[in-house]
Amino acid sequence: MKGVILAGGMATRLRPLTAVTNKHLLPIYDKPMIYYALLAMAEAGIKEVIITSSPDHAEHFKNLLKEGEEFGLSLSYAIQDQPGGISQAILLAEEFVRGDKFVVLLGDNIFNHSLKNAVERFETMEDGAFVFAKSMPTESGQYGVIEIDSEGRVLSIEEKPEHPKSDLAHTGIYMYDKRAFEFIKHLSPSARGELEVTDLNNIYAKEGSLHCEIMEGWWVDAGTSFDELLRANIRVAIERGKLNTKMIDDM
Ligand code: G1P
Repeated sequence: MKGVILAGGMATRLRPLTAVTNKHLLPIYDKPMIYYALLAMAEAGIKEVIITSSPDHAEHFKNLLKEGEEFGLSLSYAIQDQPGGISQAILLAEEFVRGDKFVVLLGDNIFNHSLKNAVERFETMEDGAFVFAKSMPTESGQYGVIEIDSEGRVLSIEEKPEHPKSDLAHTGIYMYDKRAFEFIKHLSPSARGELEVTDLNNIYAKEGSLHCEIMEGWWVDAGTSFDELLRANIRVAIERGKLNTKMIDDM
């Protein structure tokens, strides 16, 4: 299975931190944000990964990550000329994926959930797709919200609803069969002018082939706000044993 990491976008919610720097190069504790997605891919057993980013920042990623030796990965790069949504960025990986199944990670999602089992399970499946959900308060309107049946099959996903139907947030971790690219080519832009990942996932949901894994542990979409960026830093520092409540009291 191949890997696709999305590291483009305008990151307007994190200005001025992202006025010059790509969001995925901002620090999360002791590493640039994109390292966490690369480490998650390597841990899941993925060997070949493509990184999509914007024209202004593609060289920064190449300078930092080179061909991926440090991670035991083989890295390729693609450029998204205009920010047109997650599904549009996924389409850039069509040549690279070449008929294989693939995992997509939004490069600003930081989590401590292993993708290994799901990747291995998906390898044995004929077709379909996977989303990963995090059980959490969803009233904030920041995330897509997933509705599942008693067998864990996805009924629908609503993009940032005002009245969420469940407490399952739609994270930025997805797995697709090779049909995803054809499905994306038939999507229309949403009200915000983007080819939405939620619309792609709903095609699989309608077909009854969209599976959902509920994540244990913590998950942070570090691109949402300064507070979530800070939370990702704190989560990683706690996990490394570098921070606890006593240390905060002693500061
Ligand atoms: C995207 C998806 C949304 C999902 C979120 C997770 O939102 O559209 O459904 O919950 O990623 O990171 P965006 O961050 O592009 O607004």
